[in-house]
Amino acid sequence: MYHKTLDAFPEKFLWGAASAAYQVEGAWDKDGKGPSIWDDFVKIPGKTFEGTDGEVAVDHYGHYKEDVALMKKMGLKAYRFSVAWSRIIPDGDGEVNQAGLDFYEALVDELIENQVEPVLTLYHWDLPQALQERYGGWESRKTVAAFKKYCQALFERLGKKVKYWVTMNEQNVFISLGYRWAAHPPAVTDVKRMYAASHIVNLANAEAIKLFRKMVPEGLIGPSFGYGPMYPLTADPQDVLAAENGEAFNNDWWLSVYCFGKYPKFVMKQLKQLEIAPEVTAEDAKLLASVKPDFLGINYYHGGTAKTNRIEAPIEEEKEFSKTDPYLMQPKEEQAVSPEVPMFNSVANPYLEKTDWGWEIDPVGFRVALRRIQARYDLPIFITENGLGAIDQLTADKKVHDQYRIDYLEKHLVELRKAITDGVEIIGYCAWSFTDLLSWLNGYKKRYGFVYIDRDEHEERSLERIPKDSFYWYQKVIQENGRNLQ
Ligand code: BG6
Repeated sequence: MYHKTLDAFPEKFLWGAASAAYQVEGAWDKDGKGPSIWDDFVKIPGKTFEGTDGEVAVDHYGHYKEDVALMKKMGLKAYRFSVAWSRIIPDGDGEVNQAGLDFYEALVDELIENQVEPVLTLYHWDLPQALQERYGGWESRKTVAAFKKYCQALFERLGKKVKYWVTMNEQNVFISLGYRWAAHPPAVTDVKRMYAASHIVNLANAEAIKLFRKMVPEGLIGPSFGYGPMYPLTADPQDVLAAENGEAFNNDWWLSVYCFGKYPKFVMKQLKQLEIAPEVTAEDAKLLASVKPDFLGINYYHGGTAKTNRIEAPIEEEKEFSKTDPYLMQPKEEQAVSPEVPMFNSVANPYLEKTDWGWEIDPVGFRVALRRIQARYDLPIFITENGLGAIDQLTADKKVHDQYRIDYLEKHLVELRKAITDGVEIIGYCAWSFTDLLSWLNGYKKRYGFVYIDRDEHEERSLERIPKDSFYWYQKVIQENGRNLQ
């Protein structure tokens, strides 16, 4: 579509920023919090960058008032944060810990008082360790019941104060990294178990939405999915077919369940042939079909490019794989032959530049993604993450001149505005992230925030909050409601 002029951003557009509990809070065992699978996983040597952990993180737990004051200064309209399940129910499915609920209620109150809309994520990867040990985590249906109990405690306490709720953050990422690549807990490399665990998470997602309808009738709820559009490398129909396979496995497999309440035909048939399909009972199918989210949360960083398929045409010159970033890791021998991986060869896109961590930078792909999602699933979209991970330098006079981040965000926001003008329905945009935070696997070297935090992998230092240039840039974007983004 081409437009002579671009539509304005909606009047009540939620200009936001995001975070996740484990990455910002610290206070890992304070006020009755139980350990999560991440508290244990980070202790395995070699799993995280320079052995970093979230025990202190950026101590948002101790600094939340200061952080919200900065949000107010910026004029932020929405703040997306996640709740640590093991603060609310320390052992996963036992007693509810009132002190945990008190913390999040205080945070929500502080946000509301400062005119920042809270957007609450129920699950951003930090499963209570007790559930992993007792039931095998997401491989057990008992974890679904535990999740329901945890959701109930939050809906009860915060259902009247929080309007926007996110169920699962990037199920596609935590399931793939946790069960295929062993790069996240529980560090498994078994695709059959991966698909089985993913099915359990789908059930938990559905149960949470079902309960939400009863308990929070005025609220809006949906999952956040890490979407990357797949491109064919060329117009060779084999490449086009490979890209279709990529879309089917990487995206539609997950999104169809959320949006249509059932697994898509092509992938399910293939998985059955390969004997790695999840077991879906008649009751499961009924549950999945009975719920629909109000919106789709979309986290957008980059897409992928496909060339033919590895089964018929294996190629050597695959995209440069990273040794440190599991999102881009080369499949190990046994994983490479795992039956459904080779449906498409992943290659580098020759038109795109990359970040310092090898992630392709593709603002137009953002518009492509939004168009595809709207066309296929026809739900309002909430951008729940988008941002640039980079190495920032603090100058002697305490400034961070992150023009590269401004450029990145500006280009993506212009494409977002074009997508809105095309007709995509967008509720809001949460940049990742508000403050700097712990990158799960890349420590504090890879920074995303509008606010610099004075700490690194080795030292906590002062934890001082220092607004970067991008902070003031976003402040102006919000003031102007994006008028000058074109
Ligand atoms: C998303 C996650 O996948 O990507 C965030 O939801 C994460 O929690 C973000 O921090 C960026 O990832 P990374 O590895 O660059 O920190």
